[in-house]
Amino acid sequence: MMKWLQDAVFYEIYPQSFYDANGDGIGDLIGIIEKLDYIKELGCNALWINPFYDSPFKDAGYDVRDYKKVAARYGTDEDAVRLFEEAHKRGIKVLIDLVPGHTSEEHEWFKESSKAEKNEYSDRYIWSDFIFNGIEGHPYIGGEAERDGVYMLNFFKCQPALNYGWLTPTEPWQKGIDDPACLATRKAMADVMRFWLEKGCDGFRVDMADSLVKEDDANKSGTCRIYRDILPGLWHDFPQAAFVSEWNNPDQAINGAGFDMDFYLNHPGNGVNSLFRDYITEGEDRSFFRADGHGDIMKFLEEYQPRYNKTMMSGYISLITCNHDTPRLTKTLTKREIELAYAFIFTMPGVPFLYYGDEIGMKYREDLPTKEGGYFRTGSRTPMQWNSGKNLGFSEADAADLYLPVDDAPDAPNVEDAMKDPDSLYHTVKDLIALRHAHKDLQANTYCEVIYAEKEKFPFIYKRGSFIMVLNPSRETMTNIIPAGFEKVYGIGDIEALPVDESDVLKVGPQSFAVFKATTEKAREAAIAWKQ
Ligand code: GLC
Repeated sequence: MMKWLQDAVFYEIYPQSFYDANGDGIGDLIGIIEKLDYIKELGCNALWINPFYDSPFKDAGYDVRDYKKVAARYGTDEDAVRLFEEAHKRGIKVLIDLVPGHTSEEHEWFKESSKAEKNEYSDRYIWSDFIFNGIEGHPYIGGEAERDGVYMLNFFKCQPALNYGWLTPTEPWQKGIDDPACLATRKAMADVMRFWLEKGCDGFRVDMADSLVKEDDANKSGTCRIYRDILPGLWHDFPQAAFVSEWNNPDQAINGAGFDMDFYLNHPGNGVNSLFRDYITEGEDRSFFRADGHGDIMKFLEEYQPRYNKTMMSGYISLITCNHDTPRLTKTLTKREIELAYAFIFTMPGVPFLYYGDEIGMKYREDLPTKEGGYFRTGSRTPMQWNSGKNLGFSEADAADLYLPVDDAPDAPNVEDAMKDPDSLYHTVKDLIALRHAHKDLQANTYCEVIYAEKEKFPFIYKRGSFIMVLNPSRETMTNIIPAGFEKVYGIGDIEALPVDESDVLKVGPQSFAVFKATTEKAREAAIAWKQ
């Protein structure tokens, strides 16, 4: 497992909305450079930056027109190199976004591929051979190109699917994954990765990583084979490069494909959804972190534990506060509920990701019309709020020229005020990250054992090395027992351990969380043997 990931805490930047250094109303790479000290002070030591490549921006840059060119609105390739260098000077690693599954319809490869006469790129995308040979089970487009047949889409209409082949071709126009045309696609994508690694990035977040091969089997063995082919060659030349997948199946992504980390994403009804965004089950919000959500940690653990058990020796599950595709937690959770959620995210194993603005509790904006294919996601993509000045410090441009409007609510949080207020969410985040950096047992690797978890009961207690975490998101108060000799090293709310004979009585107040550390060898031993 990649050594530097052990203590990595990532910060995700949506470049459009982070900081506008040149006053044109949209964030840029120089703007990110100017805020690196801020990110370092917060305690994050790694970045994931959403796509900054040349694009018509019909899907916010996930429609790449040129993989090897920074979009003019963000700056130049030289700015990207400077960003990598400046980040490295501060001990910050940078992962950039790789979109391997599709390009923009304006990409040169696709223009060539659309031509009637055969050329090098004819099979770079998935085309059927005849207009009525639609692509069963997949969206496709006809009537737009000179050549016969229709082409397959990967996401929006503007995003034709690149051709990595079909696991079991059944039609003459379907290529196998080792067909020379599909090998050429694979090689082209490895070449893009190498291009940016040579420029100094530290790896990639891989978009829709699980869906390269069409009609793959249940284990995604075709797609896995492709990464198994690409990644070792890159590691040979860039041994520190790290890769995180948008896959949501760590066993496949890590053990199958060889990724370092896999995101645990919010999908309706899944484990992580039950923690933070279970808005509609049984007609009400049942999220575990809602004080009145009748929380059920088992909904999470039943899915998480098998995933964790299968991958803890080989890679990391990445819990996220949010991302550019997901409503921010502020949509439904209060400040205290969010603090407890973050306390959990930053003390669990794996590699955590913090989404820009989540450290100050930026709002999820329900009211915004879709921007660049954002739809409901637009509400999580608004400009970062730096201070109480013009455009909340995001940009010097006129408000009408901003990429998206800044939050105009009178209580919109901003970084400057949050830093001054010791009770702000910012300080909770900063303290939690510092706690994680200070103790190896709270970082990526140390085994996590569930001590107490029961359906619709509180608290949730888990143990990592010399540390015991106690989490009670409910409004109830309760008493538990923990082994004697533990000292509280971090706490939210009213929670304490009172010595009684050989063990301590734990008083757990409403909406509280604490990290207890074994202070003696005896306590450590007792904790190892301890179950409830
Ligand atoms: C991923 C990205 C999302 C994008 C889609 C298509 O899910 O995170 O923002 O729209 O892929 O590339």
